[in-house]
Amino acid sequence: MASTLRVLVIGDVVGQPGCRALFVGLPELARRVAADLVIANAENAAEGFGLTPEIAERIRASGVHVITSGNHIWQKREIYPALATTDTLLRPENYPVLSGAAAIPGKGHCIVTVRDTPVLVINLEGRVNLSPLRDPIQVGRALLKQFRSRVKAAIVDFHAEAVEEKEAVALSFDGEVSAVVGTHTHVQTADERILPGGTAYITDIGMTGPVDSVIGMKKETAVARSLTQMPLKMEVQDSPAEIQGVLLEIDLSHGKARTIERIRQRSAV
Ligand SMILES: [Fe+2]
Ligand SMILES: [Fe+2]
Repeated sequence: MASTLRVLVIGDVVGQPGCRALFVGLPELARRVAADLVIANAENAAEGFGLTPEIAERIRASGVHVITSGNHIWQKREIYPALATTDTLLRPENYPVLSGAAAIPGKGHCIVTVRDTPVLVINLEGRVNLSPLRDPIQVGRALLKQFRSRVKAAIVDFHAEAVEEKEAVALSFDGEVSAVVGTHTHVQTADERILPGGTAYITDIGMTGPVDSVIGMKKETAVARSLTQMPLKMEVQDSPAEIQGVLLEIDLSHGKARTIERIRQRSAV
């Protein structure tokens, strides 16, 4: 078994520009950074809001092993059956637990094996300025109790808005997981670090989408929304995109992180 694992985590893929950048750029990027495992958050891949089974398939074909998501995953209903049946297509784990017809499709964790190394991937969502979901710390702890001993590494995609919540949740898992990486705000932060217990952390890994935009959306509409305070319909900005994310190097002797490095790759399309 290998002694280190290199994990590439890619920020929210936004619309066609983000998908194009990913499909064209990921194979070369993954080779260049020698990624063993590629995780991508795809909650905005379909026209900026949600994900379809067809796009999920293409994302997978470009080299993504595990797809994570967040609050926007519910916006295209056609993904619901795939959420329920695809082990490596995740929605945040901490949505309500309901039974029968009200049950929420899918789950927020999976174990994926790469280079003979089992890795736990967990997807959680924050509660500040988002829905009042179950406590991500308690839900994450329950998953770790259940699965941590079976895996060599554990990666958490914490999809949340508020920096203080992201840092607090990351610290609550420090030493228990290999990395907690933030998604959702679409703007890459420069605070990547290894926490005292050995968990890699960054507040937000950024987005894979059009750079000259407002979080991937049309600039004019975003400005008009601010100016008028009217909830004008947002559309994806059609301009060149970057792949943004982080590369993690994990020491498999103890499952903690050695390095975390920000990635920004401008697309050729
Ligand atoms: Fe997003
Ligand atoms: Fe989000």
